[in-house]
This record gives sequence, C-alpha cells and structure tokens, in this order.
Amino acid sequence: MKGMVFTEFLDMVEETFSIDMVDDIIDAANPKSGGAYTSVGVYDHQELVDMVIALSERTDIAPDDLVKAFGQHLFKVFFEKFPSFFKDINDSFTFLSSVEDYIHPEVIKLYPDAQLPRFDCQREGNTLNMIYHSSRHFSDLAEGLIIACARHYGEQVEVKREMLDENSARFQITRC
Ligand code: HEM
Repeated sequence: MKGMVFTEFLDMVEETFSIDMVDDIIDAANPKSGGAYTSVGVYDHQELVDMVIALSERTDIAPDDLVKAFGQHLFKVFFEKFPSFFKDINDSFTFLSSVEDYIHPEVIKLYPDAQLPRFDCQREGNTLNMIYHSSRHFSDLAEGLIIACARHYGEQVEVKREMLDENSARFQITRC
C-alpha cells in the first residue's frame, strides 16, 4: 500500500490524539518495515491494520469505526491533493461512478505500484449500487470515503452495506 496512506493515517492520529499516540501505536504494531513511513514508499497493508488494532486498544474505538473515520479524512486529503479529479463534477453519484472508470486508472498512471480495489457501479434513479472487490478488505475505508463524498457535495444519503463474499461488498447508496 502506498506510503501516502500511512502518512495520512498517522497525521490523523496525531491531529485527533497526539504525537505520543503515533509513537505508541508504531511501537505496539512493531512493523516489519521499521515504521519510518514516507509518502513515496510502499508498505504491506497489514502494517496499517496492525496500527489500527493498536489504536483501537488504546482508545476503545472499534477498528471498523477508526477505518471509516480515516476514509473521511482521506477524502478531504484527496480533494486537496487531486483537484483535477473533481473538476466539472457536481454530485456524489457522478464522482463515485468515476472512481473505477477514471480516477483509479489515473492513480495507477501516477503510481504504477498502487494496489487498488475494483468497483462495479450501477445506477438506478436515486440509488447507486457499488460493488467493492479487494483482497485487502478495506470496505470500511470505502464506506468512509463514500460518506465523505456525499457530505462534500452537500447531499443526504443512506448507505447500506452487505458482504457478498470474503473479498466483495455491495454498497447501496440512496439519496434521501
Ligand atoms: C480523488 C479521489 C481518489 C483518489 C485520488 C484515490 C486514490 C487512491 C490511492 C492512492 C489509493 C492507495 C493505493 C495503494 O495504497 O496502493 C487508494 C486506495 C483505495 N481507494 Fe481510492 N482514491 C480516490 C477515491 C476513492 C473513493 C471515492 C473510494 C470509495 C468509493 C475509493 C476507494 C479506495 C479503497 C477502498 C482503497 C484501499 C485499497 C483496497 O481496498 O484495495 N477511492 N485510492
């Protein structure tokens, strides 16, 4: 997983908790990489999962909720770092549908070693179905990104999630 994801996660931990918490969870997770993350590096995604578990143990916040909160943080970072992906898009369904067809393919051009999920999207009126496929099991991250996206466009949505199999989840996003 790209180092940017790790450095942004640790920035969120520092902002929300403290720099001591950052040091503490890196120590507890004892990552194989050594834990000196840089945005240009690539690390095993399990190291992120281990830090989330360490943070959960110290904050009593469930790992799923921490990853969802991180998804919301990451959306704001993407908006700042990649303004071109938001150009001429005025609603969440158009933006979310563009992740598979345009945004992630552009991400791969920028970072050929990125490991990205696949989304199958289908729109039916006020509902967008997004099926998430990834062996990395970050559907909580996807949910946080989806929620932040709706908020970004000032929309009220209901997000339902159903696990389809070990590596796939269906998000049913309905505009209220
Ligand atoms: C401007 C918008 C976006 C950009 C620039 C972007 C870029 C990225 C990057 C750089 C990664 C890390 C890849 C790696 O670590 O190797 C990533 C992963 C991921 N992205 Fe996006 N993304 C965007 C929007 C979204 C949205 C809206 C969703 C959800 C619907 C999403 C879902 C995910 C998930 C779940 C992962 C984790 C990897 C996995 O599950 O296999 N992304 N994305």
